[in-house]
Amino acid sequence: MTQYKIPVIPGDGIGPEIIAEGKKVIDAAGERFGFDVEWIEYPHGADHYLETGELISEDSLAELSDYEAIYLGSIGDDRIAPGILEKGILLAARFYFDQYINLRPIKLLEGVWCPLKNKTPKDVDFVVVRENTEDFYIGIGGRAKKGTSKDLLEVSRTMYSAKFGLDIETESEEIAYQIGMISKEGTQRVMEYSFDLAEGRGKHVSSVDKANVLSDIYGFWREEFNAIAADHPGVKTDFNFVDAITMWFVKNPEWFDVVVTPNMFGDIITDLGAMVQGGLGLAPGGNINPNGTSMFEPIHGSAPKYKGQNKVNPIATIWAGAMLIEQLGEKEAADSIVSSIEQNILEAKVQTYDMGGSDGTSDVGDDIARILLAD
Ligand code: IPM
Ligand code: MN
Repeated sequence: MTQYKIPVIPGDGIGPEIIAEGKKVIDAAGERFGFDVEWIEYPHGADHYLETGELISEDSLAELSDYEAIYLGSIGDDRIAPGILEKGILLAARFYFDQYINLRPIKLLEGVWCPLKNKTPKDVDFVVVRENTEDFYIGIGGRAKKGTSKDLLEVSRTMYSAKFGLDIETESEEIAYQIGMISKEGTQRVMEYSFDLAEGRGKHVSSVDKANVLSDIYGFWREEFNAIAADHPGVKTDFNFVDAITMWFVKNPEWFDVVVTPNMFGDIITDLGAMVQGGLGLAPGGNINPNGTSMFEPIHGSAPKYKGQNKVNPIATIWAGAMLIEQLGEKEAADSIVSSIEQNILEAKVQTYDMGGSDGTSDVGDDIARILLAD
């Protein structure tokens, strides 16, 4: 029997409840498909931070890098200022493990109510590949008061480092700035991944940018896209300005197959994608380093107001679990989890409130595990 060790960070808010269901379903898949999982729990999140002052230490990250995939619930808590936990844990892990792909399937499952008129599961089935380590997420910027000042901003990565020495002179009372940066290496690898993915799907890659206004950064993105596209003559391509693509996602989702996007725009358009596929309760995501440690999570947040109520939908997390085991090589088991989710939705007997039901988080997990073991 294959043995896997999977570190799990349940995190904050509803995180522990949804992760419990995800583990339950993966365990059921293991029972059926002949693998066994040893779950290794990590305490990181708001409580751990308040108790110890640790967000996630270099030592914890180094320890986690022994594993191929981490299962993450959700991070974020009202008691702590916005951004501290998100940057200190989630983004810290994405950068440390160099998870340069943020993979977000936008797939309307059978039986799910689609908010778009006249669209069916065959119309909504694409994948967004969000660049996950660069752009406006590199986290460098600052403020300067009236007069002259200096700042040194630094990005340090395994692939490269970049320093910006700024001489600032302003007559404004105070200014704030944030630097967005993309690199050739960082751009090429996410595009290569997208074209490879498209080769095995609908052979169509759509690129997202705002090259008409932010022309330095996204003009560069577009040039790299053209260069990589030239190496893949069998794949159809197009460009979309980010504002326009939000319109097309709603009007013509059937146009899309693989969408490759810079980090910031990807953050925004994938929340729209989640709604197009039926809601945040159904949207999984993977932070992937194809040669390192990946991390899978629902794309919704920690929803503190529902904490401990056994109320929220665990499907996004269960689906993220399917992506995780697929990454480990258990493709058949992963597909079977997704079809069990689909059957649970089609039967419409055990559902949480957002799907029109009145069952609890754990009931839905139980039902999906039951279907998985039965069929
Ligand atoms: C996401 C989230 C994160 C992001 C936050 C929590 C840092 O919104 O995964 O989409 O902005 O990437
Ligand atoms: Mn987001």
